[in-house]
Amino acid sequence: MNSARLPVIAGNWKMNLTRQQGEVLVDGIRHGLPFPGRVEVIVAPPFLLLAALAERLSSSYIGVAAQNLYQEEKGAFTGECSAAQIRDAGANFVLVGHSERRQYFQETDELVARKTRAAFAHDLTPIVCIGETLAEREGGDTGTVIRTQMVGGLGGLSPALAERLIVAYEPVWAIGTGQTATPAQAQRVHALLRDLLAELFGSPVAGKVRLLYGGSVNAGNSAELLALPDVDGALVGGASLKAEDFIPIIQSAVPH
Ligand code: PGA
Repeated sequence: MNSARLPVIAGNWKMNLTRQQGEVLVDGIRHGLPFPGRVEVIVAPPFLLLAALAERLSSSYIGVAAQNLYQEEKGAFTGECSAAQIRDAGANFVLVGHSERRQYFQETDELVARKTRAAFAHDLTPIVCIGETLAEREGGDTGTVIRTQMVGGLGGLSPALAERLIVAYEPVWAIGTGQTATPAQAQRVHALLRDLLAELFGSPVAGKVRLLYGGSVNAGNSAELLALPDVDGALVGGASLKAEDFIPIIQSAVPH
């Protein structure tokens, strides 16, 4: 971590938890939050829970993210939610291009680019997810894949918008598998991301963008990952579903 950037710990609940379970979880996180304000804590519940949880957290230090959005403004797109609707529900952030969206819903870099723009147009901060599959890593293609996803998803943004981005590096082989990237593997890709941001938007912007690591982060491995110079936080799946698992991860991000 670098003290110039506020650390971010975001919990991606995926398709888990009822409203009541979600309320118990956020109450638990709020009450256990160490040093509020020194870490940006975000929860990403399913769409149906957004409004209730955003309201419940309105006077707290915990931000709310949607897990997805649709790129059009409004209209005949059955089953989808727009950026304006997500903002109206009280969320301030939105995940874009999570690997499960890419894998199960055929989301491409071009779609990620459109969704990122739609998010910014409605004052939502996009948390753009990228990462290589196991086959791509084993084939020696990690750098190329990361570059393609970054340029395809984020290229062409203005530097003024780009500096507000949050980018999450989530190697697909590390998500939900218990197989976390080693600190060396994570730092190598995060440094590459920082270089790519500098190439696309200039060094001052690259110095401001928060880069999160995601993929089997838990209380046992978060401290060493968060200590890396280009890791500014974590995107946490499984270990974000219980306050007693999530709070120690937040704790490990508190600057000291
Ligand atoms: P995991 O998920 O922490 O359960 O590996 C991370 C994610 O998909 O964001």
